Amino acid sequence: MRLSLRFVLPLLLVLAGIAYAVAPLVDQLTLRWFMRDLEMRSSLIANTLEEPLQEQLAAGKKVRIAAFFNRITRDERLYAVGYCASPTEKAVASPALPAEVYCADLKRWEGPGDHLLKSAQGPLLISVKPIVSDAAPDGRLVLIHDMSFIARRSEESKRYVLYLFMALGVVVSLVTVIIAQISWHGWMAGMRSLLRGEGLLREPTAERQPALPEFQPIARDLQRLIRELETENRTRDEGQIIWSAESLRAILHGELRGEDVIVVSNREPYLHQRHGDHIDVQRPASGLVTALEPIMRACSGTWIAHGSGSADREVVDQHDHVAVPPDKPVYQIRRVWLSAEEEAGYYYGFSNEGLWPLCHIAHVRPIFRSGDWAQYVAVNRKFAKAVVSEAKTSAPIVLVQDYHFALLPKMIRDELPDATVITFWHIPWPNPESFAICPWRDEILAGMLGSAILGFHTQFHVNNFVDTVDRFLEARVDREAFTVSFGGKLTSVRRYPISIAWPPEREMVGKAVADCRTDIRQLNELPPEHKLGVGVDRLDYTKGIMERFRAVRRLLELSPEWIGRFSFVQIAAPSRSGIEEYRNHEQQVRDMAARINGRFAGNGPPPIVLKIEHHEPRDVYEYFRAADLCFVSSLHDGMNLVAKEFVAARDDEHGVLILSQFTGAARELPEALIVNPYDADQCAAALHMALTMPEAEQRDRMRLMRGLVAEFNVFRWAGRMLLDAAAMRRRSHLVDKSGAATS
Ligand code: G6P
Repeated sequence: MRLSLRFVLPLLLVLAGIAYAVAPLVDQLTLRWFMRDLEMRSSLIANTLEEPLQEQLAAGKKVRIAAFFNRITRDERLYAVGYCASPTEKAVASPALPAEVYCADLKRWEGPGDHLLKSAQGPLLISVKPIVSDAAPDGRLVLIHDMSFIARRSEESKRYVLYLFMALGVVVSLVTVIIAQISWHGWMAGMRSLLRGEGLLREPTAERQPALPEFQPIARDLQRLIRELETENRTRDEGQIIWSAESLRAILHGELRGEDVIVVSNREPYLHQRHGDHIDVQRPASGLVTALEPIMRACSGTWIAHGSGSADREVVDQHDHVAVPPDKPVYQIRRVWLSAEEEAGYYYGFSNEGLWPLCHIAHVRPIFRSGDWAQYVAVNRKFAKAVVSEAKTSAPIVLVQDYHFALLPKMIRDELPDATVITFWHIPWPNPESFAICPWRDEILAGMLGSAILGFHTQFHVNNFVDTVDRFLEARVDREAFTVSFGGKLTSVRRYPISIAWPPEREMVGKAVADCRTDIRQLNELPPEHKLGVGVDRLDYTKGIMERFRAVRRLLELSPEWIGRFSFVQIAAPSRSGIEEYRNHEQQVRDMAARINGRFAGNGPPPIVLKIEHHEPRDVYEYFRAADLCFVSSLHDGMNLVAKEFVAARDDEHGVLILSQFTGAARELPEALIVNPYDADQCAAALHMALTMPEAEQRDRMRLMRGLVAEFNVFRWAGRMLLDAAAMRRRSHLVDKSGAATS
């Protein structure tokens, strides 16, 4: 109603303005018509009077003429009549003839021009007609009409015009209000769903009203425009920003007004481990931690994770918080404690025996047990409670990490409806057929769709996810905008390739490359000029460590000149050793390394140096800087940050990266030697090529790869997601506002 008034009042004002402007025009027009009529009337009267007047004149009866004139001026409009025989004589006239009208001056009232006289009685129209006779060749008849009735009529007509416009205004307003009320709700519903990116363009559903056909062309254009503007803004913004910890902080405080940031992951960034009577701080081997840790340093906030270090409980405060990094604390870890049962079911069981092999198509059968699922649900709920208790506002930004927490986004949204949940899936997403193996596939999908933004490393994984939702859920999937609307909520599913901090921490690259080469060779009892390859992974069957060893063996078979001149150091961080498959895998890796070393024994240093132990990041970087090549041979990997770390470590622009085509990183680093890890001959050829590659070519390739990692660093990864989240928040505020305006 308020809105209708807002429209009708200006309309009435406009109509009043028009009436005000039109009334004088109407007035002038009617005046002209009346004057023309009176002129005609004067001619008629003059013609009628001519004969009797001539007779009276001939009879010389001036007194009779005056009486005659008196008689005819009884007509209410004929004000006065007079006759001048010549300009020098006095007029014979009815008594009302005004003094301003006299015989000597009659010429003034003849011919075209203004014949109006404004007298004390009101406006008078003067008409002069020649009445010629032999006695008076210059005779003139003067007829004076009273015009005051015209002024009265003009007032009346002005009033009628005003009434007419007022009536018109009321009718138009009524019609407008009725039409506006009928169509407004439709419009607003249309606009709201348009702003939400939903569909005027899609088929009607039970919960949505049918699409109005008249909106469809507009809707399509508007949707395209909004999308173009968003993309353009984002690209422009992204291109303009030099992505660093500072710029990320600025976005957080500017675009998101310093809102509350909470990260949730299973793996914590720092573990406190007891060794005898002292406690060590360990940084785990996890791509997720490598990527997220610099983000939290930049944004502060709280990181909620499973407290899995042996001394973790000893260092937390009464709220289970510990400030990190230990040397210069800027954010806090909130540790969540899991019982042995919970860890067995949720972490080892459902996450790593179920979802991990399900998503990595690496020939290990996923195992799904209902007991594991129950623990998975319970632990997700436990973390949801932790998020609620850590949130400082009702609308925090929660960054949910990885496959351990597929149910968490929905649980958070149920508790904190205004929270913005951004979920990142760090591992691949399989095709719908493969995913359908999971007995709780629908619950997993519905849980993930509690996120506002859902990120994957590659477009391929985004497509697989969207296909899976389309196949199994009653959801609306928009393949142009890559959004899924489920349960009345919208999730944007996008590709956000993860990366590492750039530039790398100074302490990682502080030691000169020449010193790293010498020290690492000495440490491993290798000659100074010995060629060195390096692999750094968790001891996981998806990493293709066996395939890597097979390639080394094939190299030595095909190019025996490398026997005793080349060794491959494999750093393998022990991982998930509570799972039988992992224990078997470790044994297979050990056996294979031993077999290969045995086969080529007696010809100098062993071809394979296997180091199954935890290495701190600084030690890993020293190996990267000492090596001639780095071999990443994952059988399936979301991104693989080891490849990017090797590139970051090589500020000398030397060293060759051999990279599996089945990693997300292969799409971003085509200057690496891209291989199929299942093809031992091809991998052996790549090893040979790397060992013999001219320095100039190494430099050219390394320079291009370093340029890419520098530009697309992890601050940009997080920044893009936060910018998108900020845009979504702005959009939903807009939708809320327009909703409030109509109610
Ligand atoms: C992968 C997963 C991470 C995980 C890491 C280490 O990168 O995506 O979520 O933290 O492996 O595995 P772990 O089981 O030791 O945490």
